[in-house]
Amino acid sequence: MKAATLSHETDFDGWRRAARCFRTGRVSPADAVFRIGDRDAGLFDEVALSEDVEVPFGVPKAFVDVAQAVILHRTPDRFDLLYRLLWRLKDEPDLMKVVTDIDVADALERAKNVSRASHKMKAFVRFRQVEDERGEAWVAWFEPAHRVLERTAPFFVRRFTTMRWSILTPDGSAMWDGQALAFGAPETRDMAPTEDEIETFWKTYYASTFNPARLKTKTMQGEMPKRYWKNLPEAALIHELVAQSAGRTDVMVARPAAEPNPRLAKTLVRINRDRSFDEGFVPSTLEELQQAVQSCRRCPLWRDATRGVCGQGPRKAPLMIVGEQPGDQEDLAGQPFVGPAGEVLDAALEQAGIDRQDVYVTNAVKHFKHEPRGKRRIHRTPLVSEISACRWWLDAERSLVKPRVILTLGATAALGVTGRKTTVMQARGQAMAQPDGSTVLMTVHPAYLLRLPDEATRRDERGRFVEDLRRVRGLL
Ligand code: URA
Repeated sequence: MKAATLSHETDFDGWRRAARCFRTGRVSPADAVFRIGDRDAGLFDEVALSEDVEVPFGVPKAFVDVAQAVILHRTPDRFDLLYRLLWRLKDEPDLMKVVTDIDVADALERAKNVSRASHKMKAFVRFRQVEDERGEAWVAWFEPAHRVLERTAPFFVRRFTTMRWSILTPDGSAMWDGQALAFGAPETRDMAPTEDEIETFWKTYYASTFNPARLKTKTMQGEMPKRYWKNLPEAALIHELVAQSAGRTDVMVARPAAEPNPRLAKTLVRINRDRSFDEGFVPSTLEELQQAVQSCRRCPLWRDATRGVCGQGPRKAPLMIVGEQPGDQEDLAGQPFVGPAGEVLDAALEQAGIDRQDVYVTNAVKHFKHEPRGKRRIHRTPLVSEISACRWWLDAERSLVKPRVILTLGATAALGVTGRKTTVMQARGQAMAQPDGSTVLMTVHPAYLLRLPDEATRRDERGRFVEDLRRVRGLL
C-alpha cells in the first residue's frame, strides 16, 4: 500500500498532486491510500509528492468539474472513488459520458448532493445581529450537509456586500468585513448568538406567510430537510402550524391571508440600510438619478430586484404618469411600462390622443417586489413603508421634471404622489391642486383592467380609463 498525505478534508490540489504521482507510478486504486494530516501515520509506505508530475494522458474537464464537487462530499472514500475514475480514464477516455457506469453514477450523485447542500446553505443560513467594537455585525451558525462553506461563501458576499458578517460551521468559518473574504477555523454552535430582535419578527413573518391551504408536508420536508430545522428560528413553529393547518384552512376560505408583519418590514428597512449609500446626495439630472437609484438602500426591495427602474421621458414633460412599481419585464428591461400593463397604457394613451413620447412615465416604487413561484416571479404589492421610502426618488423626479399635471395609476401611485392613502375609485377624475403647483388626477391601474373577468366590464372600464386620460389632456 502506498499513502499520500493531504493537508485537509477538501484539499483538491493535494489530491490532484497525489493522484498524479500514484498514476505515473502505476499504483493501482486498490493500493492507493489518501490520508489527511497525520491520521494513520506510519501505517503505510508514504509517497513523496512532487509538484511537477503530469498525468500522461488527457483528463476531460467534466471529470475535473465533478472531482472538485465530490471532494466536498463527507464520505471518507471520496478520494478513492475519484482516483478509480482517474485510473480508468486512461483506457476509457469517454468514461465520464457513461452515466450508467457504477463509478461515474456514484460520482455524479455525490456531486449532486454537494450542489444541493450548497443550495440549502444559501436558503437556510440565518444571520443574527451582534454588536462589536466596529458596530453592527451579523453572525450565523450553520451545519452544511457537505463541506460547502468555501464554495458557497461568495454567494453571501454578493448578497450581503454591505454588511459585516461571519458564518460559523463545524468545518470552518467564513468572515466578510465589507472588503475581503477570509476563512478561519471550525467553530462550535455556542460561538454564535441564538436570539436577537429579528428572530421574533422572522417567526411572526413566517407564521403570517405560512399558507395552510398549500400545505404539502412531504414537499416541505424535501425543500427544508429536517436536518436544517434546529438552526432555523422559524422551524420551531412548523409542528404547531402544521397541527393547526386544517382549522386555519377553513378560516382562510372565508378570509384572505394577512399582510406580513409591518414591524418586520420596518426593521428590515433599518438593517438593510447600506452605509455606503449617500442619503444626502441630491441628483441634479435625470441621468444622475437613474445611476444613484442603483445603490439605493432605503428599503430592502433592492436585494431581489435586477435593478432600480426610474422614469422615462422628456426632462420637461408637462405630464407625468406614475404607476406602482416595475413588473417582471420592466425589471429586466430597466424601463417602466414595457410589459402587458404598458401595452394597455399605450393603447389608451393613443385613443386619448396623447403621445407617450411627450410624457414622463415612472413608478412610485423603483424596485420590483416579487416572490418566486417555481420559475416565475410573482408581483407583490409594496408596503406603505416601502412606498414611503421610495417617495424620495419620486420627489426628486418631480422636482427635476416639474410636470404641470400628474396622473396616478392605482392606490400605490396615489400614495407615493400625495403621501396620503386614498380610495382611488372615489377620488378618480377629480383635479387636485398640489403644494408644488402641479395638478394631480387619479385613475385605476392598467393591470386592474387586465384582471377584469368578463369582456363587457373590460370594455366599459377601458372606456372610463380612456376618458380619464382625455380629462388629463384637457388640463394640459
Ligand atoms: N406596472 C407598473 O405599475 N409599472 C410598470 O412599470 C409596469 C407595470
